Amino acid sequence: MTVGIYFATTTGKTEDVAERLHGYLNKANPPKDLADLSDLSEFLSLDGIICGIPTWNTGADCERSGTAWDDMLEEIGSMNLSEKKVAIFGLGDSSTYTENFCDAMEELHSFFQKSGAKMVGYVRKDSYTYEESKSVIGDCFCGLPLDEDSESDLTSDRLQNWAEELKHEIPELA
Ligand SMILES: Cc1cc2nc3c(=O)[nH]c(=O)nc-3n(C[C@H](O)[C@H](O)[C@H](O)COP(=O)(O)O)c2cc1C
Repeated sequence: MTVGIYFATTTGKTEDVAERLHGYLNKANPPKDLADLSDLSEFLSLDGIICGIPTWNTGADCERSGTAWDDMLEEIGSMNLSEKKVAIFGLGDSSTYTENFCDAMEELHSFFQKSGAKMVGYVRKDSYTYEESKSVIGDCFCGLPLDEDSESDLTSDRLQNWAEELKHEIPELA
C-alpha cells in the first residue's frame, strides 16, 4: 500500500509541479497523468492520493478544471475511499484570475469528501493575495494553491513546506 500522485494539465504546469513535489516526497509513486487512466480503480489499492488540478473554466459552477478531472468527478464521488487520505494541490493565477483563484480545488475536494476520504493538506490563506476563491474553507484553502504565472518564485518554498506537512498527515510518506 502506498501513496499515488495524480495530475491533469492543459499547458504542462501542473505536471511540472507534480514532478517537483515527487522530488520532495520520494516515497510516493511517480506522478501519473489522469488522461492516461481509463478508470480510477487503482485508487482503491492506495493509502493516500495526492491530486494536482489547474483551474481553466473561470467562474464556472461545475467542471471548473477544464481537464480530465472534470470527467472523473462523478466516479470519485461514487467510490468508497473511506480508508484513504487525500490531499489536493491547485494551479492558478492569483493576479489575472484574482476573483476565481484556484477554484477547481474545491470541486475536487467536495467529490472526494463524498467518497468518504479523509481530506488533509489544508493551507492557511493568509500568505496569499487574491480577491476570491471558492477553495477557501474558513481560514484555509482546502489544499495547496500554487501560482506559476504570477508568483513562481514562491512555488519551491510552498511545495517544500507542504511536503513536510504531508509527511505528518500521511505517515506512509515519512
Ligand atoms: C483562459 C484561461 C482561464 C484561466 N482561468 C483561471 C481561473 O479561473 N482561476 C485561476 O486561478 N487561474 C486561471 N487560469 C490560470 C491557469 O490555471 C494557470 O495558468 C495554470 O498554471 C495552468 O495549469 P496547466 O498548465 O497545468 O494547465 C486561467 C488561464 C487561462 C489561459
